[in-house]
Amino acid sequence: MKKISFTFTFICLIAFTQLGFSQHIAGSSHDFSTKTWNTSGEICIVCHTPHNANTSVSDAPLWNHTLSATATYTMYTSSTLNSTAGQPDGSSKLCLSCHDGTVALENFGGVTTGTNLLTGTTVLGTNLSNDHPISITYDAALATADGGLHNPSSALSGLGGTIAANMLTAGKMQCSSCHDVHNSAGINGLLKKTNAGSALCLTCHNK
Ligand code: HEC
Ligand code: HEC
Ligand code: HEC
Ligand code: HEC
Repeated sequence: MKKISFTFTFICLIAFTQLGFSQHIAGSSHDFSTKTWNTSGEICIVCHTPHNANTSVSDAPLWNHTLSATATYTMYTSSTLNSTAGQPDGSSKLCLSCHDGTVALENFGGVTTGTNLLTGTTVLGTNLSNDHPISITYDAALATADGGLHNPSSALSGLGGTIAANMLTAGKMQCSSCHDVHNSAGINGLLKKTNAGSALCLTCHNK
């Protein structure tokens, strides 16, 4: 009997430990349910809608937030960069609908007026020349040309799978390569993977 209850307690402990590791959007910086500008009290609605979604960005998941009208962003360049940076595309455009600081947070579901814009360091602005490159194709050819990048089809330590499968969308590096918008991993800074010891950076950079 004692043995069974010990085993049972042990299993419960494991179950609770696992629960502890599983995090959610609720309570994160992207939980807008208690914001005064969001009278719906819902979380997802600020970014997603089941109907009448904005389909102008390819692969946008049922998008509900007003996209930024910014036509030209200044992208990161350097003499050692091997990739070609175009304008932000894919899911990065979705992030920039709030994080370029030009669209009010309450501009979702067709609302076009509002005064609550992001402020402070969470605003990247429309000049992305001081930000890590995004919306660039990261393939084996780039890894070879760069010389200091892992082949994106190589296995990922920790997350399983490959860099391409876990961190790229349609072969491209986006904001979501490093960030987890829904806080599923529960890591500070909405990161996809901990950056302790620069682990996040070293996932792709072979330094
Ligand atoms: C701050 C904006 C934001 C909020 C709030 C948000 N999402 Fe998302 N969601 C995104 C973005 C951006 C993507 C696409 C990029 C990505 O998957 O990282 C996405 C992708 C998705 C996807 C498709 C890809 C996947 O991860 O399966 C689903 C499903 C989804 N969201 C569901 C939800 C639900 C349900 C909620 C509310 C509980 C929610 N999201 C809240 C921004 C948001
Ligand atoms: C609907 C607007 C909206 C969208 C879309 C959005 N964010 Fe945010 N984000 C916010 C707000 C609001 C905050 C909190 C700002 C603050 O605390 O001052 C935030 C905070 C953050 C933070 C800081 C988190 C922390 O806890 O330190 C990161 C990182 C972030 N967002 C990344 C992203 C990425 C990546 C995407 C796209 C995949 C995205 N966001 C899409 C509104 C948005
Ligand atoms: C190469 C990886 C990488 C990419 C790509 C990336 N970020 Fe980040 N971002 C980080 C790291 C690392 C931090 C620091 C997180 C921490 O320690 O809190 C960060 C921090 C942030 C913060 C919080 C800034 C602050 O001082 O509060 C925001 C907001 C943010 N990122 C948004 C974005 C958006 C939007 C994009 C795409 C345009 C993006 N990030 C692309 C790695 C990245
Ligand atoms: C998902 C993969 C990935 C992650 C994670 C990542 N990077 Fe990168 N990084 C790249 C790619 C791809 C390039 C473009 C390289 C090129 O074009 O030569 C790049 C470019 C850079 C550059 C510019 C290189 C140049 O020649 O100008 C620097 C610096 C850099 N990353 C640092 C970081 C740091 C620091 C981190 C962690 C916070 C990080 N990266 C995380 C993939 C990644």
